[in-house]
Amino acid sequence: MRLNNKSVLITGGTSGIGLATARLFISEGARVAVTGRNDSVFDRVRTELGENALTLKGDVRSIGDMRAIAAEVKKSFGGLDVVFANAGRAFPSAINEIDEDLYDDIMDINVKGAVFTLQAVLPDLREGASVILNTSFVAQTGRHGISLTAAAKAALRSLARSWSYEFLDRKIRVNAIAPGAMDTPLISKWGMSEEWVRDRKAEFAKAVPVGHMGKAEDIAYAALYLASDESSYVVGTELVVDGGASQL
Ligand SMILES: NC(=O)c1ccc[n+]([C@@H]2O[C@H](COP(=O)([O-])OP(=O)(O)OC[C@H]3O[C@@H](n4cnc5c(N)ncnc54)[C@H](OP(=O)(O)O)[C@@H]3O)[C@@H](O)[C@H]2O)c1
Repeated sequence: MRLNNKSVLITGGTSGIGLATARLFISEGARVAVTGRNDSVFDRVRTELGENALTLKGDVRSIGDMRAIAAEVKKSFGGLDVVFANAGRAFPSAINEIDEDLYDDIMDINVKGAVFTLQAVLPDLREGASVILNTSFVAQTGRHGISLTAAAKAALRSLARSWSYEFLDRKIRVNAIAPGAMDTPLISKWGMSEEWVRDRKAEFAKAVPVGHMGKAEDIAYAALYLASDESSYVVGTELVVDGGASQL
């Protein structure tokens, strides 16, 4: 029970990494509010997570939505001990393929989303709270065809450092987790065929030193460490969980 009586907000907690993290945190004693845009999955998510979960609809790109979510969380939990700013999107983009819509989408979901998630919940964060930003291994090195996502995630990594400074007086720690290629629904949402998705996943797996893609639970366990008091001396860092993809 490493998160006993802790209150947690996970944006993008209805799928993949966010959902696996909510499941683990609840099993460790936390109450968890998960957010997403698509409320058609909320019944399934509530059934899976049980009575210690709250499902809240909102788009992280909307300041109004994030303020409304913060108000709901305050009403239900009183305050917050952990925030996992996890909602995000990756999309391949060679420089010539970037148009204004794609630029806004990637930057807004990943960067604007985290900024206004934090701004909305800041008054309700308890002393000693842990904030975790979800970055990516693609920002660790140069990589072909994914520059926009990498740049957005690099901005998040920078925010983890700056915010750590800003919140020192409240003993709020901000850290990041950089997942590698994880086997989640993320690339199935790119609108390609099942065969294409299967082939890409096989390619991704081959490119990882350990020989396979990661599981959402691999990131959930890293988030558990950063959320718990065991990491109380870990401030402003980025924990890379990528099977060695960016390190070996
Ligand atoms: N999978 C990987 O290989 C990988 C690698 C590195 C980093 N990451 C990062 O890990 C995070 C989670 O990804 P995942 O793989 O778990 O993907 P996923 O299964 O597609 O889950 C994404 C979650 O984010 C929510 N979301 C997306 N856009 C949103 C928005 N505008 N407002 C609110 N919620 C939104 C989705 O819900 P709705 O669809 O209902 O909005 C869903 O709950 C992302 O930040 C991603 O960049 C993933």
